[in-house]
Amino acid sequence: MKPVADFPYSGVAGCWHPLLASRDLTTKPVAVSLMGMPLVLARLDGQPRLFSDRCPHRLIPLSQGFIASDQLVCPYHGWAFDAAGQLQHTPGTARCRTHAKLEAYPLVERDGLLWTRLQDGQDSPLGYSDLPDYVYASAYRRLPCNFFQSIENFLDPCHTPYVHKGLLRNRGAQQMATSQSVHDGGFRTEFTLTQQQNGWINRLFDPGVDVNVGRFDLPGRVELDYLKQGKILLRVVLFFVPRSDRETGMFARLYAPKSWLPASLRFALFKPFAETLFRQDRAMLMQQQQAVDTFGEHYRFAETDIVARPLWALLHGQPAKAGADITLDVEAGQ
Ligand code: FES
Ligand SMILES: [Fe+2]
Repeated sequence: MKPVADFPYSGVAGCWHPLLASRDLTTKPVAVSLMGMPLVLARLDGQPRLFSDRCPHRLIPLSQGFIASDQLVCPYHGWAFDAAGQLQHTPGTARCRTHAKLEAYPLVERDGLLWTRLQDGQDSPLGYSDLPDYVYASAYRRLPCNFFQSIENFLDPCHTPYVHKGLLRNRGAQQMATSQSVHDGGFRTEFTLTQQQNGWINRLFDPGVDVNVGRFDLPGRVELDYLKQGKILLRVVLFFVPRSDRETGMFARLYAPKSWLPASLRFALFKPFAETLFRQDRAMLMQQQQAVDTFGEHYRFAETDIVARPLWALLHGQPAKAGADITLDVEAGQ
């Protein structure tokens, strides 16, 4: 893993990133990573804390240790650190005469997630959506691929008739008119469907979606809306987390309008399809990363790669430019 200074996407270094669901931080320290930096989360004095995951003594990861008397204890020689990261106890002496302090990072809790920022920059984390008449289900997944490819995959419609053949799109031309706009730190692409998608998922769950909207905001927030006559029938919010230069985390929330059918049942019916789509994408992303490991991040962008250009610019700290409006023919070759 490359540490932060070498991280390839400079545009996200000073942003707030989610690390862990707050409820998953209980009585044990938890190892997480961000931009190649090993970090440890621990609940001390009742508050979640975030430190660099190495003991100053002999560099053992403190996430392998334990919490005792509101102190984080190293598993090797038992050095114990308080909630401020200050060394309080070195076994073998009654009085600790060694001065050592763990590197600590800011941590805030928002929408049930713990967020940090490793450098100055973005003021506050972006949250999930405020949709009062909707129910939602949450999940976390790991993608064995870099940040750029992972995000682009979930915003890109052109791979769907190939990677998700039969599930999202089947044979036959399916046109969509695109229009894109940029805003501070993000961009939005609207896809107006001229034919309904014709995969199995659409036959089972789609009551006539006519517009898809994909929105991206730095550092890794993706919002996908599926609308019928202006009403959101499904919203997916994804927070991508750059764990390292070759691994990405993804916190996901699916929103659906409240209805007479219990939310748990609706999400349970949809889940096997969503998991299949995810597995198909994941397999492709894994192969992409293996190629990036060998050849480096060299891509050729085409006119139809409407989200790749603004995404690439923003992740590299450059302003995004909206792509021209085009009509996409999303059609499987065979
Ligand atoms: S390495 Fe942590 S106490 Fe020695
Ligand atoms: Fe996909």
